[in-house]
Amino acid sequence: QPKKLLAFAGSLRKDSLNRKLIAYVAKEAEAAGAEVTVLDLNDFPLPIFNEDIETEGMPAKVRELQSILARHDGLLISTPEYNGAVPALVKNTLDWLTRKQANGDSGIELIKGKVVGIVSASPGALGGLRSLLLLRDQLAKLSMWVAPAQFALGQADQAFDEQGALKDGNQVKQIKAVVQQVIDF
Ligand code: FNR
Repeated sequence: QPKKLLAFAGSLRKDSLNRKLIAYVAKEAEAAGAEVTVLDLNDFPLPIFNEDIETEGMPAKVRELQSILARHDGLLISTPEYNGAVPALVKNTLDWLTRKQANGDSGIELIKGKVVGIVSASPGALGGLRSLLLLRDQLAKLSMWVAPAQFALGQADQAFDEQGALKDGNQVKQIKAVVQQVIDF
């Protein structure tokens, strides 16, 4: 049975470098035998988390995201780095996911034990490495199995060819390593 992976970029913008990177990672994961669903978080416009919203009734989009996640074995995330940290979009999405599911269980039960591969992209030299380290820590706190391999794409604005593939073979190798660890887990 192929592993089912849910992939998303932590950026909403059309020309997002992380959107490009997650599309490439998804392709590599499919080539390695996984079934990948790539989500556009623009399709899940969740409000900034506020417990009052929950009290009034869980947003339908949260429920939808939780039920999509339930049908997958793991995640692939490409995160930008904002001011040395994970963007609010990524944190907010994760926070909503951890909240109560339709069946009454906490969302943490849904996330716990799933495998996740993390990458980042930035036009800067470090490729968003600092946000990657914080994301790893955050996901581990949710009891996810974070693949030991990770990949930060520096100078990401120059890294892709016209077909959206990474030009540097060494970078391709690093992506394959992340994907393979996620699938093998
Ligand atoms: C950035 N950017 C950035 N880059 C980086 O490498 N380290 C950083 O700390 C920051 N900080 C930062 C803060 C804010 C508020 C913004 C908007 C941007 C630049 C960032 O890497 C660049 O805009 C990327 O292109 C964002 O990712 P997407 O949207 O291309 O996926």
